[in-house]
Amino acid sequence: MATALLGRPTVRFAPLPVERGDRTANWQFHGKRPIREVPYVPTPDVVVRTMLDVANVGEKDVVYDLGCGDGRIVIAAAESRGARGVGVDIDPRRIQECKTNAIKARVPDRVRFLEQSLFSVDVGEASVVALYLLPWMNTQLRPKLLAELKPGSRIVAHQFAISDWPADKIVRLTELGRVVYCWTVPAKCNGRWQCSIRTGDGVLRRGTIELEQEFQTVVGVAKLSNREMPIDSMALSGDRLTFSLAGVTYHTRVSGDSFRGSGHCSSPRGELEVRARHL
Ligand SMILES: C[S@@+](CC[C@H](N)C(=O)[O-])C[C@H]1O[C@@H](n2cnc3c(N)ncnc32)[C@H](O)[C@@H]1O
Repeated sequence: MATALLGRPTVRFAPLPVERGDRTANWQFHGKRPIREVPYVPTPDVVVRTMLDVANVGEKDVVYDLGCGDGRIVIAAAESRGARGVGVDIDPRRIQECKTNAIKARVPDRVRFLEQSLFSVDVGEASVVALYLLPWMNTQLRPKLLAELKPGSRIVAHQFAISDWPADKIVRLTELGRVVYCWTVPAKCNGRWQCSIRTGDGVLRRGTIELEQEFQTVVGVAKLSNREMPIDSMALSGDRLTFSLAGVTYHTRVSGDSFRGSGHCSSPRGELEVRARHL
């Protein structure tokens, strides 16, 4: 078994309002319309810029803002970074403002706005998701974000973290009392992998690698040529999995149920290939 990464106590959360079936803390929205979970509070422009910087938004990105208010985050992403954007808000007045603001900013062709619940929108197309919601909403969204977003996508949140998922980057705007968190969606690595790997001595070894994953943290052991070999310095960022085995550092790319890559050794073989398939 891999090292007991998960040996520490599991963090438990109080049941979410929705899980409790208790919606009394929410606002009934426009009579018969769906319930709104968090009121409209816009993100200050300087924080918007920080969010786009921290998430490294560029022209190839598709930025979703879940609960987009007046659309300022996706409009700024389109205007200042050349990205495309999708804003989602349950409040029709906000969606109307978004459309007007997009026209004023001359980016109506790069952004679109959906009047619907953020819990029901498919975010699979997004490479960046922005959040300025209540902590329990971030927590409730987490499984959906991890399931739908591609590895390497970023989630950037203003002010509230996503429960016990450690952020990859945290920027504190101390004078404003604001915090920006950013996570990179990790590939799924947990479990046993059938592996062939050339080690530094030039021998092609076959066996299994067992990985234990908690978000972007991964630990593992290898059983190769019938002997256990420790894996050190494992790091996962998006789909990039790096680790050291028998003194060689391997750089691999996870793609669905396989990963492959290579390590480098000055002698005797140069490139040392590694391939693995999920069992
Ligand atoms: C705190 S504001 C953030 C606005 C914008 N993202 C920003 O940072 O400037 C939260 C927004 O979420 C919207 N909202 C609340 N509950 C929602 C839900 N269930 N589905 C979609 N939007 C929701 C509200 O109407 C509000 O505009």
